[in-house]
Amino acid sequence: GLSKKILVIPGDGIGAEVTTWGKAVLEKIGTDFGHTFTFDEALMGHEAIEATGTSLPDETLAKAKASDAILFGAVGHIKYDNDPSAKVRPEQGLLKIRKELGLYANLRPIMLFDELLDASSLKPEVLKGTDILFFRELTGDVYFGEKKRTEDFASDLMNYNRYEVERIAIKAYEAAKVRGKKLCSVDKANVLETSRLWREVVQEVAKRYPDVETEHMFVDNAAMQLVKNPKKFDVVVTANLFGDILTDEASQIAGSMGMLASASIGDGTGFFEPIHGSAHDIAGQDKANPLASILSVALMLEIGFGLKEEAKKVTSAVDKALKAGYRTGDIADSKTDKSKILGTKAMGQKVLEYL
Ligand code: NAD
Ligand code: IPM
Ligand code: MN
Repeated sequence: GLSKKILVIPGDGIGAEVTTWGKAVLEKIGTDFGHTFTFDEALMGHEAIEATGTSLPDETLAKAKASDAILFGAVGHIKYDNDPSAKVRPEQGLLKIRKELGLYANLRPIMLFDELLDASSLKPEVLKGTDILFFRELTGDVYFGEKKRTEDFASDLMNYNRYEVERIAIKAYEAAKVRGKKLCSVDKANVLETSRLWREVVQEVAKRYPDVETEHMFVDNAAMQLVKNPKKFDVVVTANLFGDILTDEASQIAGSMGMLASASIGDGTGFFEPIHGSAHDIAGQDKANPLASILSVALMLEIGFGLKEEAKKVTSAVDKALKAGYRTGDIADSKTDKSKILGTKAMGQKVLEYL
């Protein structure tokens, strides 16, 4: 078996509630397959600000760099959401750790479990058969450009370097090559200079992948096509901000934000996290869906450690729990047996049973 050091960063809100189950799944997989997974924990976000004054303490970053993979929950607190003037903010820690670890590629699979066709607000016949893999660029764009602020003026600089576009495009093409051989690059090249560089570079990289069919789409159109006919997409590659927004939209294809996992990869340690946030509205109420965290663990096993069989075991345990009719509130629909609507803990426990 393998020996791996995993750092768990639960963060804020529902972060701890969901990572508990991701970690429990890892422990079970370790035992069953003879791998030695050792765990450590670290602070980030609001919790870290309260304890240390900064959202990414040096100790957390050092532990992250020394680990083989990171399981992250979420950061964010209502206190900052409602206080635009706060200089120290929970989200800064997440952005900094992504940058420091060189996590430039954020993979967000839109994986649709057939049992959840009715959980979506979209029609089942529109959804059935959808399988999209988003590559969201994660360490550039307007997220990391210079910020300026005076009393009556604010500016966030949107910028990209050629190499930043090229490396994410290559990652996306490599995936498209072994998937459906279709890649859609989403930008706003009719308006933005950054998008014109983006399109130019993707066109260049496309030449190296003649077997992959390339399409370029403007982001406004892509937002519409995603709900009109999601099946038409295979691999989607896009910039940081567009990818952030489009994947929250796409979560409704999978039924809920509580279903979408992600893998952030790049130069070093991989970082695995649900796409959702700290969800103040349901935090501390045993309502959060733990499946996004559990599916993030499947991505850790497969992409982080190359353990395909183990990853499949996790995904199939989730599938079995869903097939047996178990749901958290966010993925329940009018036909769900009320006695099978579970809280976070009971759903986590169910997945462990099916494992
Ligand atoms: P959110 O993702 O936290 O919540 C959006 C909606 O989805 C809410 O109604 C929430 O209840 C629901 N939801 C999210 N995860 C769920 C789950 N696992 N199970 C069931 N329902 C779930 O987004 P928001 O409300 O815009 O942001 C809340 C805070 O989280 C903010 O402070 C924001 O900055 C932060 N945030 C952090 C991350 C992250 O850490 N990666 C991502 C997004 C938002
Ligand atoms: C996400 C979140 C983050 C982002 C925020 C919290 C910085 O929305 O992980 O999708 O915008 O990247
Ligand atoms: Mn987001």
